[in-house]
Amino acid sequence: MSLIVRFVRGLAPLIPPIFGLSLTTLNTTNYLVIIMVGNTVYVVTGGNRGLGLGLVKSLLARPSTTVVASIRNTDAAASLKADSTALTLGAGSVLHIMQLNFNTAIQPEKVRDIFDAAVGTSVDHVDVLINNAAWCTSMTPAAETSADDLRISFESNTIAPLMVFQAFWPLLQKAAATPKVIMMTSSLGGISMQEPLSSGGYGPSKAALNWITRALHLQNEGLVAVALHPGWVKTRAGEFAAKEWNYAGEPPVTVDDSVKGMLEVIDGATRDNVSGKFVTQTGQILSW
Ligand SMILES: NC(=O)c1ccc[n+]([C@@H]2O[C@H](COP(=O)([O-])OP(=O)(O)OC[C@H]3O[C@@H](n4cnc5c(N)ncnc54)[C@H](OP(=O)(O)O)[C@@H]3O)[C@@H](O)[C@H]2O)c1
Repeated sequence: MSLIVRFVRGLAPLIPPIFGLSLTTLNTTNYLVIIMVGNTVYVVTGGNRGLGLGLVKSLLARPSTTVVASIRNTDAAASLKADSTALTLGAGSVLHIMQLNFNTAIQPEKVRDIFDAAVGTSVDHVDVLINNAAWCTSMTPAAETSADDLRISFESNTIAPLMVFQAFWPLLQKAAATPKVIMMTSSLGGISMQEPLSSGGYGPSKAALNWITRALHLQNEGLVAVALHPGWVKTRAGEFAAKEWNYAGEPPVTVDDSVKGMLEVIDGATRDNVSGKFVTQTGQILSW
């Protein structure tokens, strides 16, 4: 929740002693000071399935929470609406849906226009941006990875998250507390501790995303920026990777466990602990 303090001049004499739900106090210079408790606002990209959907559901179960989720087509919008209708929302919580396709070289201005059209005047700031959407191309060895796979991966997994950040940076700066950007990365993006697995264009695109996350942290003192690895999770992407590696089992982590861990990391994230770092859903710091 965030506190919104409004100063309204000249209205003080008109206000009855008890003013409904908002807490009001009158000061001596005839200003009315209204303190309202506003919703915490999260933007989550790729909210229709997998970890994005898990995050959206868990956030909406909290009270006083606004979630603006992106999907990339009308079928996904319908499925997210159906999933959210089946939920018990926290008191005062609300979901907005916006359509963003990151294969289209999307610019920050366009993201902001789509967001504004989705939320109207109901959202005037963003507290936490979770850049979750990403695409997995074939998990080829570097020697065989195609230029097309690299381009697709960088467009959706590296360039789009930065463009989305740029779109929301003005609204993040209006957050009451230090705003947070969470970049969903992968241990496959590690360089010094590179996983002994092929990862096609996906691994390099996440390594570049890690670089951007660290740069955002170092260049903006008023921002918490975290590169968050969710674990190897039972989702479409996690299961696709298992098949590509001919792994006989299934990814070990459930969506529920990953989301629970990630939200603990996100809720507790500060400049001093995990900002500018590569961290897992269990809070373990990885080396870049
Ligand atoms: N699952 C894992 O084991 C694992 C491990 C490490 C990191 N991660 C990261 O965790 C995040 C979530 O992954 P997930 O496992 O939940 O994957 P997922 O089930 O495949 O979901 C990916 C989401 O991203 C959206 N998306 C993909 N490409 C997009 C594009 N070009 N434009 C707009 N939206 C797009 C998808 O939309 P559609 O439904 O329309 O395709 C979907 O909503 C990703 O950043 C992924 O890299 C996952």
